[in-house]
Amino acid sequence: MSKQFDVVVIGGGPGGYIAAIRAAQLGFSTACIDAWTNEKGGPAPGGTCTNVGCIPSKALLQSSEHYEHAGHAFADHGINVQGLGLDVAKMLGRKNTIVKQNNDGILFLFKKNKVTFFHGHGSFVKGDAGAYEIKVAGKMEETITGKHIIVATGSNARALPGAAFDETTILSNDGALKIAEVPKKLGVIGAGVIGLEMGSVWRRLGAEVTVLEALPTFLGAVDEQIAKEAHKLFVKQGLSINLGVKIGEIVNGGKDVTVNYTDDKGAEHKAVFDKLIISIGRTPNTNGLNAEAVGLQLDERGFIAVDGDCKTNLANVWAVGDVVRGPMLAHKAEEEGVAVAERIAGQHGHVNFNTIPWVIYTSPEIAWVGRTEQQLKADGVAYKAGTFPFMANGRARALGDTSGMVKFLADATTDEILGVHIVGPMASELISEAVVAMEFKASAEDIARICHAHPSLSEATKEAALAVDKRSLNF
Ligand code: FAD
Ligand code: NAI
Repeated sequence: MSKQFDVVVIGGGPGGYIAAIRAAQLGFSTACIDAWTNEKGGPAPGGTCTNVGCIPSKALLQSSEHYEHAGHAFADHGINVQGLGLDVAKMLGRKNTIVKQNNDGILFLFKKNKVTFFHGHGSFVKGDAGAYEIKVAGKMEETITGKHIIVATGSNARALPGAAFDETTILSNDGALKIAEVPKKLGVIGAGVIGLEMGSVWRRLGAEVTVLEALPTFLGAVDEQIAKEAHKLFVKQGLSINLGVKIGEIVNGGKDVTVNYTDDKGAEHKAVFDKLIISIGRTPNTNGLNAEAVGLQLDERGFIAVDGDCKTNLANVWAVGDVVRGPMLAHKAEEEGVAVAERIAGQHGHVNFNTIPWVIYTSPEIAWVGRTEQQLKADGVAYKAGTFPFMANGRARALGDTSGMVKFLADATTDEILGVHIVGPMASELISEAVVAMEFKASAEDIARICHAHPSLSEATKEAALAVDKRSLNF
């Protein structure tokens, strides 16, 4: 007799493991199946985010930033660093330890919340609204049943035709986090979030980084003013960013890789790199789910088709995270996981897509929530804008990091905050205030009247809110 559960979650990334924990908290007998395997053959739950995404990339961003500061920025503080050296193996080892701590943390949380964990690959066998049978293929094979199934199988890096990832020379995010020696010349195709974050890591560590982007605009989803400022700063740091390129043949020579491309003026180039990161977006992972067996519908782009509540076309089958429409972000996956578990319990789980924050962890960081100025213009919304530069913020000056600004966009009539955009130090932390404010439908005036600690970077947020009505005090 197969093991029976109220809820079976397929996938143990941020969408899946959080959904499983919330379902268990709500009193359901819950199983979570995850296939990710560490180098010792053991389980490594946490998905892309923990193993080859959010966590390891932030570990390397931090290490590389320390290295860069020690090389340049510390001198301004009167700190002389002599004999500065780099131990890439140790840096990668530290990153691996942090990943392992997170994997172990999730296994601990499963135990604490009485979630039954299966290490293996889950696929549909058969199903009806009463119970679905899921085959788990791991060290042992078994079949379990669930009254509700939550699919949270995530996404994989998209490859360019003719340039398969070998993770030695042509790298996805996985290989980009494991480069054993700083490459002299690093090519990056795609100036999106991964391209800029990973390009920053290896540039700081000494690589000459060339970014090749198909679109003529830099970071098109970001507020134009913020993107322009970020572009200026990244170029000053030494990132070579080439927009409007057309990638041609890519030849993997084993020890190096040649990228043929046409630039925005039509000139042809043949660039040779020691390593090439391809970061041109990600595709939903429905491989091996056997979705056809139960008639689970995908949309035209290969994502599992869901409605606004993450319901699929099958009764009691739900899907969350990167495998469904919407931003591919860990916190979006988590929110959907919680909402689905609560909906299964008959509650009213809700995810507000208008207040999902975005962060790009470059230096300076870029963070935003809500609509950009170009979107408001396109939508014909009457708005007011206020900006405040970190140059005029005392804490930023003390930190020695005065690049960037905070920008507020508020409704011209009601003053409701419509978007907040930041490029600058600790933007990832500062954006939370804006998210909270927008969730509570606050006005720019609300933020402008709230007492912010001095000296703090958050005063720039208050000042940008004041600037909406042209009454900023320190600029
Ligand atoms: P995933 O994390 O991909 O997890 C899916 C899990 O399901 C995996 O463990 C997979 O092995 C497993 N699985 C798949 N199929 C099966 C099956 N049939 N049976 C069993 N298990 C299966 N987002 C942020 O919000 N902040 C960041 O800073 C950030 N940084 C990133 C950096 C990089 C380099 C990358 C690549 C991504 C980053 N992301 C970041 C995006 C984030 O990682 C994803 O949005 C998030 O991991 C999606 O969670 P998920 O649970 O939907 O899927
Ligand atoms: P992306 O969508 O952020 O950027 C891809 C870029 O590649 C785009 O600018 C696109 O125009 C360009 N591109 C596409 N095809 C191309 C081609 N043929 N030639 C040249 N350029 C091309 O995707 P990316 O960077 O791969 O990241 C995937 C997702 O992972 C992100 O969208 C994000 O959701 C998530 N992520 C989030 C992070 C964060 O929250 N800090 C960090 C890293 C990833």
